[in-house]
Amino acid sequence: MHSEGPPAAVLLVDRDPELAAEIMAFLEDRDYEVEWVDDGEKAYNRLDSRPFDVLITDLNAHRIDGMRLMAVAKDRNPEICVVLIAEQPDVALATEAMRQGAYDFQTKPLNLGKLEAVIEQGIGHQRLVFEQYELKRRLDERFGLGSLVGQSRQMVAVYNAVRQIAPTRGSVLIRGETGTGKDLIAQAIHTNSPRRDAPFVKLNCASIPAALVESELFGHVEGAFTGATRPRKGRFEVADKGTLFLDEIGELSLALQAKLLRVIEHQQFERLGDSRTMSVDVRLIAATNRALENMIERGEFRDDLYYRLRVISIDAPPLRQRREDIPLLADHFIKEACATHSREVAGISRNAMDLLMRYEWPGNVRELKNIIEGMVIMARPGKTLDVSDVPGYLRRTTAPEVSEIRIPTGATMSEVERIVIEETMKVTGYNKEACAKTLGIGLRTLYRKLKEYDIR
Ligand SMILES: Nc1ncnc2c1ncn2[C@@H]1O[C@H](COP(=O)(O)OP(=O)(O)OP(=O)(O)O)[C@@H](O)[C@H]1O
Ligand SMILES: [Mg+2]
Repeated sequence: MHSEGPPAAVLLVDRDPELAAEIMAFLEDRDYEVEWVDDGEKAYNRLDSRPFDVLITDLNAHRIDGMRLMAVAKDRNPEICVVLIAEQPDVALATEAMRQGAYDFQTKPLNLGKLEAVIEQGIGHQRLVFEQYELKRRLDERFGLGSLVGQSRQMVAVYNAVRQIAPTRGSVLIRGETGTGKDLIAQAIHTNSPRRDAPFVKLNCASIPAALVESELFGHVEGAFTGATRPRKGRFEVADKGTLFLDEIGELSLALQAKLLRVIEHQQFERLGDSRTMSVDVRLIAATNRALENMIERGEFRDDLYYRLRVISIDAPPLRQRREDIPLLADHFIKEACATHSREVAGISRNAMDLLMRYEWPGNVRELKNIIEGMVIMARPGKTLDVSDVPGYLRRTTAPEVSEIRIPTGATMSEVERIVIEETMKVTGYNKEACAKTLGIGLRTLYRKLKEYDIR
């Protein structure tokens, strides 16, 4: 017997009243709601009058036959579970019926137990499809696009741009401050594109040593340079037919910028140490949190590459320009943090939310996410997050000029380093460039240390 939800509606089409009565009695006993008609034309009218979950029809129904009825029923409800009933076994016909979307094909005399098992299975399948569909629709509505949360005018503009750009193969430039969701936007473009089943490959140009970037991108042959003991595929090859996401493209050397331009224009390159030219079909998405225009002026970024990339660009809006998204994001990150850390938090108070709404968010959504995560981890179970749970520096309207870092005596040098980096990251709103500058170290060194100390 089927469970949960309202009784499933069955339309039964058979010209034999005795058999129909028997099937009806059997199914109604098992909580199905059954309507019976004795010919195809009446069935046709019933299908137009209300939704049905199941159609059981005699293949030779009068006036409109079973196959055609099935087509009509599927037109009204593509997931309808159709069971066709034939006078005698007919393999060719059964195959054709299944091909056209019948859920099952049975012959007389009917085995009612088997009929019920089939219907139940069909309905289960149908519910699953609906649930997934409904879930997806609700997620899209609530969360925007993919995993991007936010309903502000600026975010809706981003979603629209992504939907418009996704089907094409043009290179894309995503610009925006740190933590504004550039990674998520790149992923959304890929998953909404025809390339969604091919690889999405990411390379952060700042996180690997400059000398290795070229071989990472294009690969190398054995002996191409010291240490190249084996041939290796580059990211372009790995991403063939898919999307390559180059993060922090401003970090790329001028020489590599030139090579990149060539790949964009001709989809061609060579592995390091190899004279053979390779061709790939890769869609390129680049991201940057730096003002490339300024870099062009200083001669650090090629203008031809910039103009080429800029044709299709998306600007990820900073959080302080779309404060109305903060409650939605906060709510989302509270749920997420509760799930990841097996915590329970009742929500967030009005006053605490006011503080979040007033803050400048230099680290944008990433900073909000980190702060909420910290608040959830520190909160007593079942509690509503309140003002006292909000970190001190958010409670001051203006950021302090000087803040100090406390280091416990007995800390090792590497602990000291970890604490200093962690605190500086907080103060700079998780802006790696600002943090590196404050500490007087290179961006790459910072990346290495963040990884080493597992700081996010
Ligand atoms: N609109 C959003 N909805 C949900 N989560 C978001 C959104 N924007 C950013 N995030 C989350 O914030 C964090 C930072 O996002 P992301 O890595 O995409 O930023 P970014 O712009 O690439 O930053 P960076 O320039 O530092 O690389 C991630 O954990 C991401 O999941
Ligand atoms: Mg990023």
